[in-house]
Amino acid sequence: MATASRTLSRALHHTQTAFAFRTTTPRRLATLGPKISSRRSYANQTPKPSSKRAPLYGGAAAVLLAGAGYYAFALKSMKLDAIDPVKVSSAAGATSGLGKPTTEDYQKVYDAIAKRLLDEDEYDDGSYGPVILRLGWHASGTFDKLTGTGGSNGTTMRFPPEGDHGANAGLKAARDFLEPVHEQFPWITYSDLWTLASVCAIQEMGGPDIKWRPGRQDRDVSYCTPDGRLPDGSKGHDHLRGIFGRMGFNDQEIVALSGAHAIDRCHTDRSGFEGLWTFSPITMTNDYYKLLLDEQWDYRKWNGPKQLEDRTTKTLMMLPTDHALIKDKDFRTHVERYAKDQDVFLQEFSDVISTLVELGVPFTTGEEAKKVFRRTE
Ligand code: HEM
Repeated sequence: MATASRTLSRALHHTQTAFAFRTTTPRRLATLGPKISSRRSYANQTPKPSSKRAPLYGGAAAVLLAGAGYYAFALKSMKLDAIDPVKVSSAAGATSGLGKPTTEDYQKVYDAIAKRLLDEDEYDDGSYGPVILRLGWHASGTFDKLTGTGGSNGTTMRFPPEGDHGANAGLKAARDFLEPVHEQFPWITYSDLWTLASVCAIQEMGGPDIKWRPGRQDRDVSYCTPDGRLPDGSKGHDHLRGIFGRMGFNDQEIVALSGAHAIDRCHTDRSGFEGLWTFSPITMTNDYYKLLLDEQWDYRKWNGPKQLEDRTTKTLMMLPTDHALIKDKDFRTHVERYAKDQDVFLQEFSDVISTLVELGVPFTTGEEAKKVFRRTE
């Protein structure tokens, strides 16, 4: 099978270059690769509404259709023809014919995402997990605590102005990956779907349990955030504090969040940067921090943006913003803590991701509504 040979060649490639850094055994050996052999099917059907409630749902559907029609017309007149009116009905915050979805309903959505992550193993380094995580982060990281704008309530990246921002290059792959799941569970808002998918990707890549609750509403194109709210990898510590401080994060949280760069890579056709951060690109570990501290990092001489490479193998990379975490002494304290103890990192990563995916959401539920979803076995 092409998949097997591809997985093997990836493994060989990684093994050839990895020996110098293979210092960590992932807490859970939950790389997506080995799971591929044990695919299973899931019960993903959404419950059908009872016939007694049919008129109510019929009426609601008519209102929604009319609403969607209006949105389609309004958006078309704004020359945003690329927007699918069906998606726009969700932008208006449509829920379902389900009544109030239960935790088990969301578990079914989780299972469907996890199944797609296992099945679609030909993408990039063998998983959509990293790009899905990046989607959830970019959808949430636009938050501005002073104005209350942006954040994970809205998924305004569905619309051209925001979807076309340079920082979001490549995320269409993640948005498209989640479309069939939304078609299967049309009652879930995109805002809940994208953030739940990020949590699912982390868990399925061997990361920590992450608490998540529903309650986000989609918003229309008028809520798109301006370009420039996400970090620029070529900058330093002041920039990181400025960007993440605007979201409400402190030094420890900035360092914990950056640990997401334990997984996967930069692509020249997206950000212009190139290369892997670690030798285990689809498994969540604390190797990112270990490498930052243990390796010597030199500026790469190449015809591309300013980035660093490891002196030993010259096959790994760090962005200037990653490197800033060891140059700044307050950031560095946390890098050292996480490099020393993977469990501490995973716990604090879990907490900060749970906060990240809630930025800007006026929840009507309390902390008790937050649940950890079951991973695939
Ligand atoms: C600290 C500031 C950050 C900067 C400057 C930054 C920048 C970047 C850049 C330039 C890429 C490469 C994109 C590409 O070429 O495909 C990338 C990838 C990635 N980033 Fe970040 N990022 C930051 C923080 C974060 C955070 C907070 C998370 C998640 C919590 C995250 C998750 C990821 C992931 C998973 C990828 C790999 C995506 C893929 O392989 O498709 N990053 N980041």
